[in-house]
Amino acid sequence: MGVISDLLFVVSHLFVLFAFVNVPIASAQSIFNVKRYGALSDGKTDSIQAFEDAWKDACESEEPSTVLVPEGEFLAGPYEFKGPCKRRITFQVDGTVIAPTSPNAFTRKNWIMFSYIDEFKMSGHGIFDGMGKSTWGHNDRSGMTFPTSLQFSFMNNSIVEGITSKNSKMFHIMILACIDMKVRRLKIIAPEDSPNTDGIHIALSTNVEVTQTQIGTGDDCISIGPTNNGITITDVECGPGHGISVGSLGKYSSDKDVSNVLVKDCKITKTTNGVRIKTWEHSFPMTCRNFTFENIKMVDVSNPIIIDQHYCPTHNCGQQTNSKVKIIDMKFKNIEGTSETPLAINLKCSETEPCADVHLSNINLRYTGANLFKLSSEAESESESETPQSACINVLSPIISDNVFPKACF
Ligand SMILES: *[C@@H]1O[C@H](CO)[C@@H](O)[C@H](O)[C@H]1NC(C)=O
Ligand SMILES: *[C@@H]1O[C@H](CO)[C@@H](O)[C@H](O)[C@H]1NC(C)=O
Repeated sequence: MGVISDLLFVVSHLFVLFAFVNVPIASAQSIFNVKRYGALSDGKTDSIQAFEDAWKDACESEEPSTVLVPEGEFLAGPYEFKGPCKRRITFQVDGTVIAPTSPNAFTRKNWIMFSYIDEFKMSGHGIFDGMGKSTWGHNDRSGMTFPTSLQFSFMNNSIVEGITSKNSKMFHIMILACIDMKVRRLKIIAPEDSPNTDGIHIALSTNVEVTQTQIGTGDDCISIGPTNNGITITDVECGPGHGISVGSLGKYSSDKDVSNVLVKDCKITKTTNGVRIKTWEHSFPMTCRNFTFENIKMVDVSNPIIIDQHYCPTHNCGQQTNSKVKIIDMKFKNIEGTSETPLAINLKCSETEPCADVHLSNINLRYTGANLFKLSSEAESESESETPQSACINVLSPIISDNVFPKACF
């Protein structure tokens, strides 16, 4: 056979191959492109009706379906995408979805919500731009709340991956009352000085995993609120922001236990806190149990390890109150890096409910606070650079193993 006929032979067989591979895939997965429903990718025309219509058809589809937001800029929302849907459903965002900025566009609390869906997936490499600059200046006024960019509530067996959330008005992502939720490969970005722009807040949920995610915001990178069981955070880069935080807990009587939290293989850079557990000084009773913070690298973090059971931002919690939140079985293991304040390990537990079963092992946190001073001094002063400190208040028989520096609870 000549070269041409060889090629033709290969090509014809490729066609056969593609035909076989393609047909089943195409028919098993219906695509509902928002542009076909009239969405305009000019970044100016409100396209929420098209999103809504595409969602309704996809959700009613007898086959697994995908709502596609293709490349381009789409002004859309607020809207709640609700289940239940007939089959698996994917919301794929490859373009940029832009939030409205006029305050009266928000009759509901949040911007884009997904709720009551089983086997939901969000995917794509697109961006949700919350246009936060339009409200950040007003976030400090008491009582003012602004939309969360993406809220997932009452969802089971779901995945959120790939997308970027940028400049939310308040929280970027909230996960509420979800069971078996995987969050991976996200980017979450807002300026360091943007108020209340928490990265991911998780509450009332069971088995939530967050992994391979980069978060830099003006508030907590990840906050784990009340009533959670089985929260795993791995391979997260956090900073700037306020760190990875459990709390604040105990403010409401409905705040129930938080158990089985694992934070592992994370890097925390230039944040106000590293890993933190925070409970209200004046609080309802509940229990935090079995948390592990392991393999954490801290870079210039102000409070690398902190348990604060005296949280009272309003300063009128009364003098005699002690947090009723029990903190039991906490492990801090393989944590190293630099602290920007001398108090690198700060465990301030409640007098009435002392922390119990606190394990510290292999911790090395150096104090780098006086950077300017160090630069201008002689090399030999390295040895006398300030020693980091620890506090250990109301911690019942702590368990210290391997090297812990600064020495704590000794
Ligand atoms: C999620 O699972 C819970 C517990 O099994 C169930 O009550 C709820 O209806 C499920 N929700 C959805 C949307 O499937
Ligand atoms: C403690 O939490 C970890 C991480 O979530 C989990 O794997 C482990 O089974 C829990 N231990 C107990 C005793 O529940």
